Amino acid sequence: MKVIRGGRVWLGAAEGFREGLEIVVEGSRITDVRPSQPDQPTPSQETGAREAEVIDATGHLVLPGFVNAHTHAAMTLLRSYADDMALHPWLTEAIWPAEARMTPEDIYWGSLLAIIEMIRGGTTAFADMYFFEDQTARAVAESGIRAALAPGLVDGEAFEARLQTVRELAATWHGEAGGRIRIMVGPHAPYTASQGLSRAAELAGELGLAIHIHLSETRKEVEESLAQHGLTPIQVAERAGVFQVPTLAAHCVHVTDGDVELLREHRVKVAHNPTSNMKLGSGRAPVQKMLQAGVLVAIGTDGTASNNDLDMLEETRLAAFLAKMEEAPQALPAATCLEMMTVYGAEALGFADVGRIAPGYQADLILVDTSGPHWTPLFDPAANLIYSGKGADVKTVVVAGELLMERGELKTVDEERVLHEVRQRAQRIARA
Ligand code: NI
Repeated sequence: MKVIRGGRVWLGAAEGFREGLEIVVEGSRITDVRPSQPDQPTPSQETGAREAEVIDATGHLVLPGFVNAHTHAAMTLLRSYADDMALHPWLTEAIWPAEARMTPEDIYWGSLLAIIEMIRGGTTAFADMYFFEDQTARAVAESGIRAALAPGLVDGEAFEARLQTVRELAATWHGEAGGRIRIMVGPHAPYTASQGLSRAAELAGELGLAIHIHLSETRKEVEESLAQHGLTPIQVAERAGVFQVPTLAAHCVHVTDGDVELLREHRVKVAHNPTSNMKLGSGRAPVQKMLQAGVLVAIGTDGTASNNDLDMLEETRLAAFLAKMEEAPQALPAATCLEMMTVYGAEALGFADVGRIAPGYQADLILVDTSGPHWTPLFDPAANLIYSGKGADVKTVVVAGELLMERGELKTVDEERVLHEVRQRAQRIARA
């Protein structure tokens, strides 16, 4: 049993931050959120079991961990490998040729590096789409983080073999690591997996899995889809049956009113990736419009070759600023941002009991240090967090009741070893 005592606890947009509470964690779950009892020694169980471990959160915000709703974790191997390019040449001339040189073991180490960066910035769960996802699953299981992993699918000779990989991965990993790992099906996008979209949707339906896909990321993608099919990419996905299963759609930058209505009707969850959209010159997703239409929008970083980091606080701040930029300062207020990066993200990944500090929820919690100059004064902790907080202010991270970082010290991963491995491997991959 753990008791997190002190600090200001986030209870959701309606209640905001509250002081004078303590959170009781038993096993992987939160079992109580109650007025704190600082003057009494924590009662040990009647059974004579061990005394509770107290985590002192004085001077910190206590929040549900952040959920990164769209990334490609092992792309850490390609950080700063190819920059200042548009999406299509970036993919075809730089990224895909380098990815063809990656081994399963590379993916394992690249994923671990991403996981370290995410834990350090307060991310406790992420949605991934890549290849050799069994290696990412291994890294997730060992590190203690939570993830929804989608093996990427693209058209071509290997498509059927890749579908078989999805089956095997689901049989081995879906619901494993104490429920921390979910498997999704990852048709890359309508323009790269057009033949396979309906097969991917059928397989997801058969296995009871959700789909993770890129939709309407660039204007070029939408124009080519209209020219080829007379349909937007979102309409193509809908016709192929993708939305018959729960779907997480990354980007949705260039969407028509009809597209937004389709997303709402089919309860498609959107992962908004403002940095990647800005850096690749893709455009600005109409986030406020989608939220107002009743579409769930979560926040993702995308991969570190197009971001180039995995800092969810920075990502969410940029989402807020981008939404406000064109004379809409009321758009995406801090409390909404906090919901998007926690409970909306958890729902987008398919974790129903993650993302809130309440009894029965998974104990995925972070402690954010508010002692720094950029936190002073602290009139509105949500505003401090979103508009001036830094990823490095996250000091302690708990996932499923386990400490992954305590006062800045990682507990489950050998950081030095991982950095060394990635430096070596990235050199080999970059050498064409
Ligand atoms: Ni992506």
